[in-house]
Order: sequence, then structure tokens, then C-alpha cells
Amino acid sequence: MLTLILADAELELIPQKIWGHPAVVAYTKRRKKKARICLLDATYHHSAMRNLEDGGRRGRPDIVHFFLLLALDSILNQEGGLRVAVHTRNDEIIEVNPETRLPKHYERFVGLIESLYDMGAVPSKKDPLLEIRYGVRLKDYIDEIREDEEIIAMSPSGEKRQLGRIFPKKGDYIVIIGGFPEGDYRSPVYEIADRSVSIYDGMLKVWTVVSEVIGDYERLG
Ligand SMILES: C[S@@+](CC[C@H](N)C(=O)[O-])C[C@H]1O[C@@H](n2cnc3c(N)ncnc32)[C@H](O)[C@@H]1O
Repeated sequence: MLTLILADAELELIPQKIWGHPAVVAYTKRRKKKARICLLDATYHHSAMRNLEDGGRRGRPDIVHFFLLLALDSILNQEGGLRVAVHTRNDEIIEVNPETRLPKHYERFVGLIESLYDMGAVPSKKDPLLEIRYGVRLKDYIDEIREDEEIIAMSPSGEKRQLGRIFPKKGDYIVIIGGFPEGDYRSPVYEIADRSVSIYDGMLKVWTVVSEVIGDYERLG
């Protein structure tokens, strides 16, 4: 089994500090929704985000969307060999049922995640496909789910491994991938992981790394 965790993902509701900013007011008016129940999104809120700490990397639900589409639609997941979870910058954990069929359309995905924040689980608490838990640090989540898997952190500054050699041998692994567009992990990922691995001399997009990791694991057979 491969467990993929998108860590420190830049997914959050619009912070109160910028609810009154004209870019946010215009956005929420257009969507006919209160700011406190809308996701922060750099595409629409970048001018307001200059007033936020780490404003240059926050508000990236699109990264989470791509990550989940790639992972859930993979052959590995169809065959029951994949578990995925998202850990956010505010220490929330989103657990994902492998049978979830996510909306391909981005705006519909955003609506779904806003419902998740609102209700705690979607489509229902009784039979959830996505469930959110609050105040769970990455290390605590991994301690909870880990059996005897090796933990690998993907990082451009990690130990260089050729493609096809991310995994030393067949087995169970937990792989951590950063869910942010720039900067480094905020969580103590290099302390949590047994090793960190780079697959290229340079920075790759999250979705490129996800597809290479899944492909490498599938080829282990
Ligand atoms: C867009 S990058 C974040 C960029 C950041 N400057 C960094 O150094 O990680 C997001 C994530 O993709 C993964 N990643 C990006 N480039 C990589 C590489 N060359 N090798 C392995 N993982 C990589 C890492 O997990 C990283 O946290």
C-alpha cells in the first residue's frame, strides 16, 4: 500500500483579516456567499493577500484539486493500493475515501470543499467520502496511521534518485509531498521522514511529482 499525504497544503477559508478588502467583497458578492464560508483563492484574492503573512504562497485549492484528481483516478487507486490524505497549513486533515469521484470542474470542487468545511463531512457524516478533522498536526496524523512503512519526503533538496528508483524495494510506504507553490514545508517534515528524495535538479510542480511517484510505485509490481 502506498499512502500519499499532501502536506502543508495551502487550503483555508478566507481569513477574517481580509473580509473587508474590496477584492474579497466583490468576489463574495458575485458568489452570493459570506466570506467566512469561502475558500481563499490566489486567483481572485491576490491583491488582498498582500496583507497576509506568507501571502505569496497561500490560497491554492487548485493544487489540492490536481493532487486528488491524479491520485484518485490512478490505476493504483482503482486496484486498491493507494490511500490519500491532505494536511493543511492550519493543521486540518482531510481524509479521502478511495471511491470518491471528485468534480473535474474547478469551481464545483471549490464548492464541495466549502461544504466540507461547513458540514465536517461530505456528502454526509454517516457515509462520508471526504471528512475533515481539525487541530491534527502532520506528525500526530502519521503516528496514528503508520504501521511499519518507511516515510519518504519529496523535496528538490533531497537525496537525488533517478526515476524508477524512488522506492528501494517492494513494500508499503508513506510519501509526503508539499501542497504549496513556493517556500519549504512549515511542518517538521524532515524530522518526521526517514529520508528525503529529489527526482530532478530543480523545482517541479506538485502534480508532476505526484504522477512520477505513483508511476514509480506502480512499476514495483
Ligand atoms: C512546488 S514544490 C514547492 C517548492 C519549494 N521551493 C520546495 O523547495 O519544495 C511542492 C512540492 O513538490 C515536491 N517537489 C518539487 N520539486 C521536486 C523535486 N525536484 N524532487 C522531489 N520533489 C519535488 C516537493 O514535495 C515540494 O514540497
